[in-house]
Amino acid sequence: MKVLITGGAGFIGSHVVRLFVNKYPNSQIYNLDKLTYAGNLANLSDIENKPNYTFIKGDIVDAGFINKLFEEHKFNAVIHLAAESHVDRSIADPLAFVFTNVIGTVNLLNAAKEQFKKDNASFKRFYHVSTDEVYGTLGDMGLFTETTAYDPHSPYSASKASSDHFVRAYFDTYKLPAVISNCSNNYGPYHFPEKLIPLCINNIKNNKPLPIYGKGENVRDWLFVEDHARAIDVIFHKAQDGSTYNIGGHNEWTNIDVIRLLCRIMDKKLNRAEGTNEKLITFVKDRAGHDLRYAIDSTKLQNELEWKPSLQFEEGLTKTVEWYLNNEEWLNNVTSGAYANYYEGQYVKR
Ligand code: NAD
Ligand code: TYD
Repeated sequence: MKVLITGGAGFIGSHVVRLFVNKYPNSQIYNLDKLTYAGNLANLSDIENKPNYTFIKGDIVDAGFINKLFEEHKFNAVIHLAAESHVDRSIADPLAFVFTNVIGTVNLLNAAKEQFKKDNASFKRFYHVSTDEVYGTLGDMGLFTETTAYDPHSPYSASKASSDHFVRAYFDTYKLPAVISNCSNNYGPYHFPEKLIPLCINNIKNNKPLPIYGKGENVRDWLFVEDHARAIDVIFHKAQDGSTYNIGGHNEWTNIDVIRLLCRIMDKKLNRAEGTNEKLITFVKDRAGHDLRYAIDSTKLQNELEWKPSLQFEEGLTKTVEWYLNNEEWLNNVTSGAYANYYEGQYVKR
């Protein structure tokens, strides 16, 4: 199998690439990434020299480049994670999200469709990795299922919803063997410190304020990133063409409770008196269009494909904090921007 993974230098993509490279030594794993601010090859330093791994720098928005790449390599499958992924950035610059998330996805679908048309048997799967945010927001009750109607509210979720619709349209129209998963919020190692949890870990470490939007009452359903990567593996290998799976941890927390728990864990890890870190909590202006609650019903995935989350939240969060505290160089390079200069095992001045 020649598997193209897009966005493999990002947070979730790097965990998926690592899992596939290590678990499937007879498959060739190609990681296509533009290396935007969110892409960092240091995330893959442990596997970069494996014989079944190849990195390709490129932009999925460039249709000519993508078509040539497929003609050259004739991939047997695609796992598509490349995206602009941060809601606050989408509010500031929606068009960047349309280019990468919508046009980039359609470019990949077109290239895969052409290859599938030429040789049906050789192209096995187009796996599109999406988010629960396409479903919009919940009130106090209920869960998102695979049949919940799409109702995106941010430019980010609108662009992901659009890309999901295109993937389904290519399955219905061209029979392209596609699957989609919609996952809840991830956390864990290699998470870029603009997102809530790694941002607050970094700020606690540096005694800086912890910005909580609004009253911190918004609810997210947190899943450890390696559990998401395992779910992608299972769905990639076992799901029926045209199917959709929701992935989530049955792990709902208000933002303020997440940050209070994080503060307590880090009081202990940093040998600070209990309650020290909580004093850093600062309530700030709410995000525009801020969805109140996300919560995933992953019964279909659990029953049909026998996946379940492996970690309790406190355990996963403790593991995550330990990783950030033990990987200071990674964090410093990411926060200073030096990671853009990572090249074959070291940071070089360019
Ligand atoms: P990320 O922002 O950490 O990584 C995105 C990667 O895509 C980066 O390596 C970046 O360089 C690359 N990329 C961006 N634009 C590109 C382009 N035009 N061409 C090629 N590469 C490009 O994102 P993430 O959090 O790892 O999310 C990965 C995927 O999972 C996304 O599709 C996202 O929508 C989805 N998702 C994320 C979460 C979450 O909690 N982070 C939850 C559910 C689904
Ligand atoms: P985020 O990590 O950006 O993920 P998403 O918006 O995709 O859910 O945000 C998680 C939650 O935390 C969300 O409700 C917004 C909130 N948040 C803050 O309160 N402060 C922050 O500085 C950030 C980045 C997010």
